[in-house]
Amino acid sequence: MKLDFHSHILPGIDDGAKDIEESIQLLDNMAADGVDLVVATPHFYCSKTTIHKFLERRNNAYEKIKPYLKPEHPKILLGGEILYNHALVGNDDLDKLTMQGTGFMLLEMPYTKIDEKIIRGVESMIEDQGMKILVAHIERYLNYTSYKSLCELMDLDVLGQINAESLVHFKSRHRCFKLIKEGYVQVMGTDMHRIERHYPSLGEGMDIVEKKFGKGILKDFEKNGIAMLKDRSYAQIIG
Ligand SMILES: [Fe+2]
Repeated sequence: MKLDFHSHILPGIDDGAKDIEESIQLLDNMAADGVDLVVATPHFYCSKTTIHKFLERRNNAYEKIKPYLKPEHPKILLGGEILYNHALVGNDDLDKLTMQGTGFMLLEMPYTKIDEKIIRGVESMIEDQGMKILVAHIERYLNYTSYKSLCELMDLDVLGQINAESLVHFKSRHRCFKLIKEGYVQVMGTDMHRIERHYPSLGEGMDIVEKKFGKGILKDFEKNGIAMLKDRSYAQIIG
């Protein structure tokens, strides 16, 4: 089963697909790749909009593409890519930003050093607010923070996602391999934005992982993804 946990396929809501036509083209490509399920995760910035307005716009964007969806397209679940902000810690509505049917939130870290305050903020979301966290494209933050501080974040009860694109590029591929080896990666995504950028498919990324680690790791990713969709706990997934 091919599961894509990170995408910007909804039209006109962020820097992803600009209109319905582009959304459908992206979904056609995913269908050709054999993707079974994709989570639509438009960007959410709490400094720019409210949770209520974001959900309204996201749901409207989904309604727009619904009549054009084809049987071969992957199943779409609604979610969001939530940029961490200290202002979100303690927010009672955080659970509304989770992936449809689950308690998992795709959390994007700020593009700065991951410091103690951020780590304690994420910890509070988990322990005080009962959130389940999937950290988005964990390999990316190494451009901004040390491996040590990324590990401190990932050593919390969080799951990790990597982008297929990062596996295709030589420099980031080795970071991804290291993070997979350390057990910090549970699922993958394409982070697909625009058709013109020719994002690598999920399949391309999966092939690279398989070549390095064997089929077993892809089975693990699939198992983890299915467990997330069933809203299993962190301990059930990692244990
Ligand atoms: Fe993204």
